[in-house]
Amino acid sequence: MTDPRLGGRQLRRVVFDQQAIARRVEGLGAEITASYPSGDLLVLGLLKGSFVFLADLVRAIARPLEVDFVVAASYGSGKTSSGSVRLAYDPATLLEGKHVLLVEDIVDSGLTLATIVQLLSARRPRSLEICTFLHKRAGEQLRYPVRFVGFDAPNEFLVGYGLDHAENFRHLPYIASLQ
Ligand code: PRP
Repeated sequence: MTDPRLGGRQLRRVVFDQQAIARRVEGLGAEITASYPSGDLLVLGLLKGSFVFLADLVRAIARPLEVDFVVAASYGSGKTSSGSVRLAYDPATLLEGKHVLLVEDIVDSGLTLATIVQLLSARRPRSLEICTFLHKRAGEQLRYPVRFVGFDAPNEFLVGYGLDHAENFRHLPYIASLQ
């Protein structure tokens, strides 16, 4: 596989290609549209990883909505979560009384979302739901239900479509596993 975006790095395999991603995002958009018949909807992206998915997803949702972001990052730049989440940006948008849809690229241990959900719940949103493009179903950390899931993900280190390894590969238009 020779993709100039990779800078010579080898991938193991493409897990979800562009067509599969586009089809699933359209499906998720339709599900979300149908799930919110009324009320203010705030789509809240968890940066950085969600930025590509969020950009596609909001364009597949056929109803009024607002967009804002939360920055949550786990410490370290290795391949595994370090077990500690920090909040680097807190949204200025009011959450109270709104349907809040938290958008993630991937749930792995669930630690990131567990922390963020706890924080945002205290702001009295009308509802708080999670949409993740990929779910590894690997962790015990998240007790909160994940309402919208793009795909169950294999237990491999995945990059692309927003997902990075040491800040590389976020711009791949497909999702792949690294060697
Ligand atoms: C990644 C990913 C999720 C989180 C998932 O973020 O985007 O937010 O890890 O792992 P968890 O379920 O084990 O918490 P990361 O902290 O690497 O930051 P990034 O979004 O800036 O890539």
